[in-house]
Amino acid sequence: MDFIKDAIRTIPDYPKPGIMFRDVTTMLKDARAFRAAIDAMVQPWAGAKIDKVAGIEARGFILGGAVAHQLSVGFTPVRKKGKLPGRTLEESYELEYGTDAVEIHADAIAETERVLLVDDLIATGGTADAAIKLLRRAGADVVGATFVIDLPDLGGSKRIEALGVPCASLVSFE
Ligand code: PRP
Ligand code: ADE
Repeated sequence: MDFIKDAIRTIPDYPKPGIMFRDVTTMLKDARAFRAAIDAMVQPWAGAKIDKVAGIEARGFILGGAVAHQLSVGFTPVRKKGKLPGRTLEESYELEYGTDAVEIHADAIAETERVLLVDDLIATGGTADAAIKLLRRAGADVVGATFVIDLPDLGGSKRIEALGVPCASLVSFE
């Protein structure tokens, strides 16, 4: 996974002083790294009988769409508050650098559907935690969560595993 890690750019002090922003767009523009990342994100869930992928706005849409295509399943967007046109479910959460809220359409998931959650990065796990709560409220069985980047010092993947959702990631930054 070294070439995937090398394709991720770090921008210091974005969006706030002290944050080392891990910018996955440089990996997305690299065809070999993008292809390899999608293959590796799917691989841990081979045989897991995934019915649907849920991707978190914004970069989780790009990766989640590709993962859903690879698995030949549908895709559900987990959007920032106020963007979805139909009836929604909402959860608030705290970020490494602020607070926000996410929504899904109330009818996005059929009862007992097996859902794989996708995002570019897990930091504190607040966003993924809120997404899992939403998906469960909609009736989903969230069978796993898959990320390109883990920031293990911020404890997010442990937090999500404590909810009973196994996590996989391709690279870590301390
Ligand atoms: C980033 C990232 C994750 C989230 C992880 O999104 O893409 O969704 O932060 O942080 P957490 O584990 O501490 O919750 P961001 O909030 O920057 O939103 P954006 O993708 O809309 O820019
Ligand atoms: N989301 C939360 N923390 C982040 C970081 N350090 N880089 C990119 N996205 C993030």
